Amino acid sequence: MPRVNVGPGAADGLGAMAASFGGTALVVTGSESLRRSGRLAGMVGDLQSFGVDVAECRIAGEPSPAMVDEAVHRCEGRSVRVVVGVGGGSVLDAGKAIAAMLKESGSAADYLEGVGTRKPSGRSVPMIAVPTTSGTGSEATKNAVLSRVGVDGFKKSLRHDNYVPRLAILDPILCVSAPPAVTAACGMDALTQLIESYVSTQASPLTDALAVEGLRHLIPALPDACGRGAADFDCRGAVAYGAFLSGVTLAHAGLGVVHGVAGPMGGLIAVPHGVACANLLPFAVKATLDNLAAADTPASKAAVDKFARIGKLFGTSYTDPLDCCRHLVDCLYRWLDRLPIPRLGGYGLTAAHVDRLRQAASNKNNPLPLSADQIAQMIRDRW
Ligand SMILES: [Fe+2]
Repeated sequence: MPRVNVGPGAADGLGAMAASFGGTALVVTGSESLRRSGRLAGMVGDLQSFGVDVAECRIAGEPSPAMVDEAVHRCEGRSVRVVVGVGGGSVLDAGKAIAAMLKESGSAADYLEGVGTRKPSGRSVPMIAVPTTSGTGSEATKNAVLSRVGVDGFKKSLRHDNYVPRLAILDPILCVSAPPAVTAACGMDALTQLIESYVSTQASPLTDALAVEGLRHLIPALPDACGRGAADFDCRGAVAYGAFLSGVTLAHAGLGVVHGVAGPMGGLIAVPHGVACANLLPFAVKATLDNLAAADTPASKAAVDKFARIGKLFGTSYTDPLDCCRHLVDCLYRWLDRLPIPRLGGYGLTAAHVDRLRQAASNKNNPLPLSADQIAQMIRDRW
């Protein structure tokens, strides 16, 4: 887990922190909004006031190995001693990958799990993660997700224990400008990660405690963060905290079938990761609960109790575990109706893609596996 600075204004100390590494700081950013808001100029000015030489790199959209290679190439001849990623999950992943590839030879694709043949050495330039959206939890994890979209597309990780950022700065002031659609999709990714790691077959008492803590903060705050609470630091802070914890719990307990489908789906069509997760989550929970009920073992009952506890966190007077589980599924579908989450069909999903995903999908650490038919149904559920 990285060192963490939390709270409104936490990013104010960035200059002093980056200066401690010396040399050049490579600032990796994403959308234009950070630039337009003047916040980027403020951060760069802060870094420079501490004598830090600043290089900048902009990553548009989800990062590919080619984007990372190009960014590394542009840094040649500069003594980059720290990478500062300021942006959404894609920017943080790009920053982590660039920080690693500054110390490796060849292409980032050579080191990607399931794509390349080389193992990362673990050498990396230190990275400071400053999320401006709350979703992937990348600020807490040891992997950088890179993708290439198309027929031979993929969405894979560059992973090493040493890639955990040195410092994560969770400053809700930086999150207030995220628009409702981005806030909703990213927040649903975090919600999915908390749920999947909580019910994972690899969960532990430690990850359970952190996942419940994350859910306790995220669930009441996320709908508000997409609406009237968008400018409220407490509301944004609760979502950011939940997202950060989702990164910690997924790193230790793994994920489930939603991520097992959303990963390959992101290699086939250009659907934002959070949108994919949001659309798949309700059906995945429902189908998993069906399979757990059919299994009727001590382990399946324990998993049902965990889903029931999540249902309780959505607010209900039900006490029977099965009622709480039904409430959870209802709430997840209701959230999809209320939040600005587009359906999957709008991203060019075809019947051929569904067939492909039936084969390519994985159940990861889902409490019980879903069948290929259930997986296909899950994708069609929100076409
Ligand atoms: Fe995710």
